[in-house]
Amino acid sequence: MKPTVTVFIFLSLFGLNFSLYRKHIFVNEIMTWENAQKYCRKHHDDLSTVSKEEAQQLSTNPENNNAHFWIGLHMISNNLENWSWSGGEDQKIDYWDIRQPNDIAEQCGCVRRNTAKLHNVVCSLPLPFYCMEVFVPILVHQNKTWDESLNYCRQNYIDLVSLSSQINMEGVINNTITSQTAYVWTGLRFMVGHWFWVSGDNLQYKAWSTVGDPQCPARNLHCGALDRSRNIWQPKDCEEKLNFVCLRKP
Ligand SMILES: *[C@@H]1O[C@H](CO)[C@@H](O)[C@H](O)[C@H]1NC(C)=O
Ligand SMILES: *[C@@H]1O[C@H](CO)[C@@H](O)[C@H](O)[C@H]1NC(C)=O
Ligand SMILES: *[C@@H]1O[C@H](CO)[C@@H](O)[C@H](O)[C@H]1NC(C)=O
Repeated sequence: MKPTVTVFIFLSLFGLNFSLYRKHIFVNEIMTWENAQKYCRKHHDDLSTVSKEEAQQLSTNPENNNAHFWIGLHMISNNLENWSWSGGEDQKIDYWDIRQPNDIAEQCGCVRRNTAKLHNVVCSLPLPFYCMEVFVPILVHQNKTWDESLNYCRQNYIDLVSLSSQINMEGVINNTITSQTAYVWTGLRFMVGHWFWVSGDNLQYKAWSTVGDPQCPARNLHCGALDRSRNIWQPKDCEEKLNFVCLRKP
């Protein structure tokens, strides 16, 4: 049976000194931890590595009705104190729920949705899970129109960047310090009556310069740029030539 993948995507940026994007994809199919890991490694990068903030974000996913979901956490060498991530990241594991981890036989880690905290459970438990794809934002020091920027990113890297959370914004802003332009292009576009991320990411988080979406942007203001000094999005003329931020594989 082919698992159904719900495309409910969060883009979370983490890593304190380097900007690493983790895109989490919810797989609404129940599997054991090992099978979930196999599935993620086949179709994406790995089972999700999840920080405390990401766990909170993922726990609010309305597509998930299960009380628990798998992430890439597992016990190492039968030691209750020794856990690591399937993807090998050096992400802190510091948000266990009270009295967890609590049983040496429970060697896989999941998130309990109503507390957004870690629990250890037996690995054979069938649970839905999150897979991740990992990217790094890269500032391109070239002045291009929005369309040219999109083409450049898709030809040379993966896509124009999405800024779908506060932490994500901060990471990109940190990444654009050397930009030659005050604004940089993002993957934000207005077409047939609404704004969207060209990567298909969720547009729940918003940081527009005006309150709410610019519902009816002027005809020539249909592309979204990041204002690096004010940390906000600004609708701009797509023909303006700006530096821009792409996402690449690490
Ligand atoms: C945790 O497991 C790794 C890999 O097996 C091992 O190298 C390390 O010494 C272990 N750490 C502790 C505290 O047991
Ligand atoms: C891009 O535009 C900025 C501002 O107009 C300018 O300072 C910079 O030199 C330009 N960069 C390139 C590569 O042409
Ligand atoms: C961005 O840079 C600031 C200042 O150096 C730092 O405090 C913050 O943690 C960085 N944010 C991210 C997401 O990298």
